[in-house]
Amino acid sequence: MIRSLISLPGRLHFVFRRIRKRVLMILYRPLFGSHGKDFSFDPDGQYSYKTIHVGDDVSLGYLPILLATRSRIEIGSKVMFGPEVTILGGNHTTNYVGRFMVDVRDSEKRPEDDLEVVIEDDVWVGTRAIILHGVTIGRGSIIAAGAVITRSVPPYAIAGGLPARVLKFRWDVDTILRHEESLYPPEKRITREELTQSQQMTMPRKI
Ligand SMILES: CC(C)(COP(=O)(O)OP(=O)(O)OC[C@H]1O[C@@H](n2cnc3c(N)ncnc32)[C@H](O)[C@@H]1OP(=O)(O)O)[C@@H](O)C(=O)NCCC(=O)NCCS
Repeated sequence: MIRSLISLPGRLHFVFRRIRKRVLMILYRPLFGSHGKDFSFDPDGQYSYKTIHVGDDVSLGYLPILLATRSRIEIGSKVMFGPEVTILGGNHTTNYVGRFMVDVRDSEKRPEDDLEVVIEDDVWVGTRAIILHGVTIGRGSIIAAGAVITRSVPPYAIAGGLPARVLKFRWDVDTILRHEESLYPPEKRITREELTQSQQMTMPRKI
């Protein structure tokens, strides 16, 4: 009895925190550029809301930072993030000789400083991964915890490290084709040729 009375403030704090997050999520959700059904995100994360577009059944995990002030972040469907993932859709402009970087205004930026980030369907982004501007994370891939993604990741790859490289593929091409057959209509499936080419080009250490 005494023990449960002592732990009451802790439990109330936990319940209050959950309710607070739920309410803020309902209030902030319409700020996103677009979103599908079953979209959950931590309202205490940092977002450039209107430039972020999200599909169905997406969870952005605990405390992410998703910023693309002059580009877009496109996230497909069936995507899940671990805690504290960062996605940045831009760089500062650093090429003006004789000027401090901080003094360069947004209007003076080059187009290549701000590039879209695309995360395709069925992707799992691990804890504290950092995804930089201009990359596409291919369908079905996994981004390892702590990865720094500076180049696009092919479908069904597992990429990790700093800078991230393909560590391996989830399956061989035949298995990926079977997986795609059960999940996507024919017109949306990745072809054998596309899969073979992307697996050869990225030269994983093993399959
Ligand atoms: C990417 C991941 C899924 C790979 O798991 P796995 O398929 O069991 O891979 P393995 O442990 O067999 O590792 C394969 C290789 O990748 C390397 N590797 C694994 N995780 C890595 C990481 N985070 N960064 C860099 N390299 C990594 C391993 O060292 C190994 O290299 P080696 O072949 O030279 O020994 C897993 O390591 C990971 O990062 N999970 C994310 C966990 C997370 O964030 N959870 C949050 C819950 S939502």
